[in-house]
Amino acid sequence: MIKQIAINGYDSNFSYFVGDGEKMMVVDPGDNERLFAVAEEEGYEIVGVLITHSHHDHVEGVDGFVEKFGCAVFAHENAVGRVSKAVALGEEVEIGGMKLEVLWTPGHIDDAVCFYCEEEEFVITGDTVFVEGCGRADLQGSNVEDLYESVERIKELPDAVKIYAGHDYGSKAVSDLAWEKAHNRFFLCESLEEFVEERMG
Ligand SMILES: [Fe+2]
Repeated sequence: MIKQIAINGYDSNFSYFVGDGEKMMVVDPGDNERLFAVAEEEGYEIVGVLITHSHHDHVEGVDGFVEKFGCAVFAHENAVGRVSKAVALGEEVEIGGMKLEVLWTPGHIDDAVCFYCEEEEFVITGDTVFVEGCGRADLQGSNVEDLYESVERIKELPDAVKIYAGHDYGSKAVSDLAWEKAHNRFFLCESLEEFVEERMG
């Protein structure tokens, strides 16, 4: 299962809890006071921290989770050393009875990953894909060609797959691939050239 937490900070970040309902990991922890309260209320056993990428607004709560729960922090190997206590993700993460596939999706930054749950049909996209948008590609560690490939990779997922993004930038908090294929101007690009123009132009 996945639980979305709107952090409502200056940049409308989302954090998540993901796992089998008992054993859970937090994704991109932001407002720890709220996240700790939710974890307690729901009776979650926190077994790890997942990071979609190393930008500061996605890792603010990492230290607090490590201190409180003594749990491991998993991020892309390029983020090791950028995110405190992070160890490199493999190709898959198991959280109790739940399996997440790790998709390497560079472009917004070279340590960006998405977490795909095939069984429950959702993907956590960080700042690679937003509802009706995609991440910036003009930052340190960005590469617009890589971002195009990463968006194309997400587009290959089944239409029913729900999109859980890193920020609340769209017309709704959660969408799915079918919606994005119809409404996301970056999904509608038919070539790299068109994508570069749309993203950088
Ligand atoms: Fe970011």
